[in-house]
Amino acid sequence: MSKPSELIGWNDYSYSYGDREIRTINPSIQSGSTVLFESYEDMQLHEKGQYPGITYGTGGLSTQKSFEEAICKLENGHISRAFPSGINAIICTLMAFTQSGDEVLLTDNVYGPTARFCHKVLAKYNIKITHIDSNIGSEISQYINDNTKLIFLESPGSNTFEIQDIPAIVKIAKKAGIPTVIDNTWATPLFLKPLDLGIDVSIHSATKYICGYSDVLIGCVTVNKKYSEELDEYLHTVESYTNSHDCYLALRGLRTLQVRLSALQNSAFKIARWLETEDIVDCVIHPGLESHPQHNLWKRDYSGASGLFAFTFKEKYSDKKIALFINSLEMFGLGYSWGGFKSLVTARQYKRDGKWVHDGKHLIRLNIGLEDAKDLISDIKSSFSKL
Ligand SMILES: Cc1ncc(COP(=O)(O)O)c(C=O)c1O
Repeated sequence: MSKPSELIGWNDYSYSYGDREIRTINPSIQSGSTVLFESYEDMQLHEKGQYPGITYGTGGLSTQKSFEEAICKLENGHISRAFPSGINAIICTLMAFTQSGDEVLLTDNVYGPTARFCHKVLAKYNIKITHIDSNIGSEISQYINDNTKLIFLESPGSNTFEIQDIPAIVKIAKKAGIPTVIDNTWATPLFLKPLDLGIDVSIHSATKYICGYSDVLIGCVTVNKKYSEELDEYLHTVESYTNSHDCYLALRGLRTLQVRLSALQNSAFKIARWLETEDIVDCVIHPGLESHPQHNLWKRDYSGASGLFAFTFKEKYSDKKIALFINSLEMFGLGYSWGGFKSLVTARQYKRDGKWVHDGKHLIRLNIGLEDAKDLISDIKSSFSKL
């Protein structure tokens, strides 16, 4: 777990005005398309592909670089890059590391649009997508063949919360020379350090906990040395651009991530433990609870739990009854995304082709925010009475 001081004390930022230096504790928001060269000779170096600096806004200016460097440090990576959204970060990573004829292994629990992109776009370019179990470990060896060129994990899954055995997967992937990618959004760079466990690429929807206020869409990708050129070359080619203001907000969010997460973690644990004692509740799906099927993996690899988890009811209620429950919650906004200061709820029925104990049940997903846990509990309790 990173210490608060690691998130606060990176640098100060210095600018000059006349003959005075102006020092601030936040970077300035630098934006621009044209980046000026010092000289004709520098421009010539760029024409020959030998110029080491940034030559255009799409290369990322100082604000983008400040955010990327901060993330890279937290993730112990070689390079980090910002993207205009979490899903854009995922899509660019998938595109950067695959080509026609490849096979991608994708865990069953990935964020819906990740799977949709694979099936709708990668498949169009003759890339085979094979789904693997969401709690997979060393059994992944059964799926690997000559065409397997990428393993994409999401741990825990942000809807159904299964955890993969990362070290076991990494061991097999490394032997086969296959890069591993993880969507690390749930754990944040504070609660899981995937690159330290041998993962090659770690992705975040920084939209969630990193920004923390539900007012920005942004993503980031961190890569180890081995694969950084591949990602950078792809980015250089597609010139994906993340605006400076969003990078500034993401960097600002990072400063308070540890204190926000610690409060969210405590509240979420309180609410999850209380839900476990309620007669009406069947299962509380939270990796930090002893009852979670992969709790031991969480305990071994993660240093904390964020504020997103789910539960199911014992009884199979009609949609009408579920609507009564959801609509009577006063403190929970009904909406997608998570990781912000406000508590949110979603309710859906997930299917895992009959392989899953919660198949067909309404899964109530709670994004616990910064409100008082006691108030959230009494809101849920009074809405239970509608059932
Ligand atoms: C696990 C996970 N990854 C990626 C994303 C996509 O992030 P964004 O909303 O920033 O595109 C989401 C969004 O909900 C998510 O839950």
